[in-house]
Order: sequence, then structure tokens, then C-alpha cells
Amino acid sequence: MFAEVKHCPTCNEQEQFALYKYCCLDDNFIKSCLILAFMKIHKGKLSDAKEILRIINITPEFGGSTIKQNHSLNYVRAFLTDKMCLALVAEEDNNMVGFILTEVWKKHDYSFVSYLYVKPGYRRKKVASKLLEAYEDHCKKMRLGKISLLVKTSNTRMQAWCKKNKLKKGEVFYYFAKKL
Ligand SMILES: CC(C)(COP(=O)(O)OP(=O)(O)OC[C@H]1O[C@@H](n2cnc3c(N)ncnc32)[C@H](O)[C@@H]1OP(=O)(O)O)[C@@H](O)C(=O)NCCC(=O)NCCS
Repeated sequence: MFAEVKHCPTCNEQEQFALYKYCCLDDNFIKSCLILAFMKIHKGKLSDAKEILRIINITPEFGGSTIKQNHSLNYVRAFLTDKMCLALVAEEDNNMVGFILTEVWKKHDYSFVSYLYVKPGYRRKKVASKLLEAYEDHCKKMRLGKISLLVKTSNTRMQAWCKKNKLKKGEVFYYFAKKL
């Protein structure tokens, strides 16, 4: 049950959830407020890598290549440590409930969302939308002009999500790849 309605002290947004907590990112670069009770968004840490890897490798909505490739821990660690990447993790009671992994191309003036994921029990609660908001804030601070992502044609859920979050749909592409 929702105990009370409060305004977030950071952005003054009102939500119908019981409590807010600040999201204290260590370098303070993102305006953050908590939307779900007890949910926090933090920068991805190396300790998140194993769980993210597990999810990436089993989630059918990711990938699209005919060349099967199981990603390695180092692949995920790069998103968490590389200066050209930004990883944000949503957590509730110290449990990861979702994440967004992105590449930031400052020189090319844009950023690409490689992975966006919310655990099934936490879907339709705006977790992904809040991850996007925090990510967009970061990109705006870096004065990037555009963000983009790819969605499988079969992934109608994500397409609906994109529409709701005002990402404009472009042309349909085929994925081509070559094993090296
Ligand atoms: C797609 C995904 C990230 C959405 O996360 P989420 O936290 O549930 O999304 P939100 O709560 O922020 O949804 C916001 C809006 O998106 C749309 N949306 C989200 N899920 C939807 C669904 N199953 N059906 C229709 N619309 C949906 C709705 O408009 C929703 O607003 P509403 O609940 O007020 O109607 C999540 O379903 C997921 O992790 N899917 C598996 C991985 C995946 O497909 N990732 C994207 C790969 S490109």
C-alpha cells in the first residue's frame, strides 16, 4: 500500500509512491530522484558485471546476429569502466532491477544505447523510463545532439516503449555480420 505522496526534493516531481530517497551518485553528475519507493539509480559498478552478463546472454530481445556470440565478462566490464561508456543500474533494496548500457561518442555528438533491460517483476513501473531520463540528463550535460538505439522488428513491447518515450522510428535495416 502507498503510505503517502511526497514531492521529490530534487526535482519536485510528485509520484504516487510512498517514499523518496536521494540517489547519491558519487560524482553528482546526474540530477536524480527516486521514483519508485526504495528504488535508486546508480552508476554501474564492477560488482554488477556478472549479473548483467548473465542477463545479456539469456535475453532473446538482445542480439540479432546469425553469428552466435556469447559475451564475456570483459565485454560487460568495458561498459562499466570505459570513459566512452555510461552504465546506469536501477536497484531496489540492493538488488538490481534494471540497467541501461550505453556508448558515448562525444566527438560524433551522439550516444548509442546498447542494452536496456528491466526484470520482469518490475516492468510497467517506469523503471526503464527513469533510466532513460537519467541517461538523457547525462547526455545533455555533455551537449550531445542525439541518442539512438536498435530494436528487433519482433520486439513490439520495446517499440511501444520507444514511442511513449518520444524516440522517433526510422527505417528498417537488416543486420549483417562477419566472423573474424
Ligand atoms: C522494454 C522494457 C525495457 C520496458 O521497461 P519498463 O520498465 O517496463 O518500461 P516503462 O514502465 O518505463 O514503460 C513506459 C511505457 O512504455 C510502454 N510499454 C512498456 N512495456 C509495454 C508493453 N509490454 N506493452 C505495451 N506498451 C509497453 C507503455 O507506453 C509504458 O507506459 P504505460 O505503462 O504508462 O502504458 C522491458 O520490457 C524489458 O526489459 N524488456 C526486455 C528487454 C528488451 O526488450 N530491451 C530492449 C532491447 S532493444
